[in-house]
Amino acid sequence: MVGAQHECPRRQFLLWAAAVATPLPGLLAGCAQGQPPTGIQSAAVPPQCIPDWMLTPNNVADADLMRDIEVIRDLLVHHQDIVRTVEHFSYGIRATTTSSNRDLAERIRTHAEQMKLRLQRGAAIRQLDPLFAEIFAHHQLVDLQIERLPNGIRINETSSDPVTVMLLRQHAVRAVSEFVAKGMSRAVQPTPLPPGYPG
Ligand code: HEM
Repeated sequence: MVGAQHECPRRQFLLWAAAVATPLPGLLAGCAQGQPPTGIQSAAVPPQCIPDWMLTPNNVADADLMRDIEVIRDLLVHHQDIVRTVEHFSYGIRATTTSSNRDLAERIRTHAEQMKLRLQRGAAIRQLDPLFAEIFAHHQLVDLQIERLPNGIRINETSSDPVTVMLLRQHAVRAVSEFVAKGMSRAVQPTPLPPGYPG
């Protein structure tokens, strides 16, 4: 149940995230020499340390949660090396998310594929965030297509349901694009529901 895993307070997670963000010799050295960044060092998420904004309906039963959080953590820590654009259509959005860092580009692909599987299964994540709760409540109405690019991904995310399209737009612009712009400091904040949302 929500609230079953509050042993790791948000501040502790942020301190830990800052600590794992520090050792980036490949990334920093590459940038300093004007070369493309080469590597990301990852660290396992400490046991029992799932921040409250990641909570699912039942963390214990979610076998993929730790794996998925490790990728999300890397994306947030290295958000400044990610580039993203979003285009809007009447039935949904097309978003292109890339990085010149090869490891980070692969993390972007992995994350999108992991989240696509979550949408397909209805395996909710970040359920303390009202927008994410609504997206997973509508998961059966979402179609997410992923095109792998050499430096990232292009996704087409659509729905035949206009209310679900509102959620997809809000997620693309007010969640993912803001995570890319601001990283961890944004990820610990909730995402508002779209203006005029009928829920
Ligand atoms: C810099 C950080 C992040 C990046 C680059 C990123 C990237 C993406 C991308 C490319 C997609 C496909 C949909 C789209 O492009 O609009 C996506 C979907 C998704 N992401 Fe992330 N993400 C980040 C942070 C997070 C965080 C912090 C969470 C939750 C804890 C999260 C959960 C999800 C979920 C649930 C989806 C599927 C929902 C949907 O597409 O409607 N992401 N993300």
